[in-house]
Amino acid sequence: MKPMINIALPKGRLGEKAYGMFEKAGFECPSIREESRKLIFENTELGVRYFWVKPSDVVIYVERGAADIGIAGKDIILEYSPDIYELADLGIGKCRMAVAAKKDFCDPRDRTLRVATKFPNIARSYYASLSREIDIIKLNGSIELAPILGLSDVIVDIVETGKTLYENDLEPKNDIVSISARLIANKVSYKFKNESIRAICEQMNRVLQENK
Ligand code: PRP
Repeated sequence: MKPMINIALPKGRLGEKAYGMFEKAGFECPSIREESRKLIFENTELGVRYFWVKPSDVVIYVERGAADIGIAGKDIILEYSPDIYELADLGIGKCRMAVAAKKDFCDPRDRTLRVATKFPNIARSYYASLSREIDIIKLNGSIELAPILGLSDVIVDIVETGKTLYENDLEPKNDIVSISARLIANKVSYKFKNESIRAICEQMNRVLQENK
């Protein structure tokens, strides 16, 4: 009998897009499309079980083996450095991690730079590469407020369309890294459920080629 593959999907638009790819790849689970508050859905015939988790939690489920595979943004992977395999770049959820600030911002070189972000590790390693001393202000959302209210000098955040920055009189100053959604796998599952995981991965790659 085929083993059940547990798949962690990030709740929200990205997860829905990713599920659409699994569906095209032949791993559908129709009940997931029904309006409900359920979090787990399975298709026993195909051997897949999907569950919705908070986007930043996908790497935790996969690293600890509660999920065999999952979909996570490269931003989350870089921030948490989980011990997982990255199997494919799904080419969805494309955006970039960037430094942004007020339009008239000028780096105060004589003092520590105050950086507000949801991504302290990414920010720390970026500024370490520039040998710039910083003070991290860890926030959980609406990061754009920080420079406007004088809480920070700059922010390190996700920029997708640039609309949020523009509408808050901020602008991107430097790009740090390009981001997109990745198919990831638990290392032990990849070994013991190898055939099933590779079959999913191959079909996802086929869908990726067709989308090109
Ligand atoms: C993300 C990010 C920016 C916005 C960028 O926010 O933190 O605020 O999207 O998108 P844009 O360039 O298309 O305007 P998110 O929706 O995750 O909300 P949060 O930061 O308040 O958590």
